[in-house]
Amino acid sequence: MSEIQQIAQDAQTRIAAAQDLAGVEALRVEFLGKQGSVSALLKTLGKMSPEERQEKAPAIQSLRQQVADGLAQKKAALEEAELDARLANETLDLTLPAPSALRGSVHPVSQVMDEVAEIFADLGFAVATGPEIENDWHNFTALNMDESHPARAMHDTFYFPDEDSQGRKMLLRTHTSPVQIRAMQAQGAPIRIIAPGRVYRSDSDATHTPMFHQIEGLVVDEGTHLGHLKWTLETFFKAFFEREDITLRLRPSYFPFTEPSVEFDVGYANEGDRRVVGGHGDADGHDWMELGGSGVVNRRVLESAGLDADKYQGFAFGLGIDRLAMLKYGMNDLRAFFDGDGRWLSHYGFSHLDQPTLSAGVGAQNLGGKS
Ligand code: DAH
Repeated sequence: MSEIQQIAQDAQTRIAAAQDLAGVEALRVEFLGKQGSVSALLKTLGKMSPEERQEKAPAIQSLRQQVADGLAQKKAALEEAELDARLANETLDLTLPAPSALRGSVHPVSQVMDEVAEIFADLGFAVATGPEIENDWHNFTALNMDESHPARAMHDTFYFPDEDSQGRKMLLRTHTSPVQIRAMQAQGAPIRIIAPGRVYRSDSDATHTPMFHQIEGLVVDEGTHLGHLKWTLETFFKAFFEREDITLRLRPSYFPFTEPSVEFDVGYANEGDRRVVGGHGDADGHDWMELGGSGVVNRRVLESAGLDADKYQGFAFGLGIDRLAMLKYGMNDLRAFFDGDGRWLSHYGFSHLDQPTLSAGVGAQNLGGKS
C-alpha cells in the first residue's frame, strides 16, 4: 500500500473514532497542521521535477481534501449532537421570579427623538429618513449651495475618496437637510415631515462631537408662510418643555436654502448651575439659548426637488437633538453622550417603560433622578 493510501485509511478510521471536538482538533493538527503528515507530503512536491510533480500532485492534493472534508463532517456531526443533548437537558423554569432591577436604559438621545416625534406626529408630521452616506448634490447643490458656495467650506465635511456612478462626490451628510430634497422628490407636495438622524462634521470640543444628531422639519403647501413656522416652533417648544411660559426669539440669519432665514432662541433662567427653560431671556438672571435654524424654503430648493415654486411655498427648520437633551435633562458635556460609560447611562438614561405619549406626558425622569 502506498504512503498516501496508508495515511488516508489511518485518517478515516481515527476521524470516525473521534469522541469530541477536542479529539477532532487534535487530528487536524496531526494531519493538516504545520508539522502534520499530510503537510509533510505536500512539502515534498516542492523538491520534485516538474514531470514527477504532475504525476504525484493530484493524489496528494486529493488526500488533503479528503482529510479536510472528513474532519469538517465529523465536526458538524459532533456539534449537532452536542446541541441536541443541550436542548434535551436544558429547560426554562417559568416559575422563577423576575429580576429585581431592570438592566439597560434608553439613551437620552433616543428618548428625546421619541419625544420630538410624538409631538410632531400630533401636529400631522410623518417621519422621513435618508442615508448618512450622501452625495454632494443632495447635501449641498440641491440646497442651493453649488460647488463654489462659501457655505460649503463652513461645514467641515468628511469626504470619501470615491465618487458615485453619476460622478458625484460622496460624503458623510453634514446636516439632515438633504432629507428635505429626498422627501420632496419621493412624495411631492403637499408634504409635512420631520427627519431625525445622525450628522457628521470634523469638529470636536465640549459642545461639538464629530457625530451629532439633528431633527429636520419641512412643510410645503399652498399659502405657507413665516407665521406658520413661528406657530409651529412655539407649539413644539411648549409641548417639549411642558410649560406655557416659553418665549421664542427669532433672529434674522442666513442659510442658502431658506429666504428669509431665521435663527431661533429660547429664553431660560439660571438656577444655580442649572439652566431652566422659560421666561423672557432679557429679564434679570435670564438669557437666550440658541436652538436651531429655520426659514421659508428658498424657491430654488423647491425647484431642485422638482416642485412648482409658483404654486407651493414651504418652511423648514433644523434642531440639534443633543442640545435639546442637554437643556431638558441637565447634562453639561456633550462628549459624555458617546462614551458608552455604564455609570453615565444608568444615571442619565431612561426606563424603556417611559414611552413618551401626549396623554401621559413627553417628559421623563432620568433613571438617576433629575440632577
Ligand atoms: N441645516 C442647517 C445646519 O445644519 C440647519 C437648518 C437651518 C435647517 C435652516 C433648516 C433650515 O431646515 O431651514 O446648520
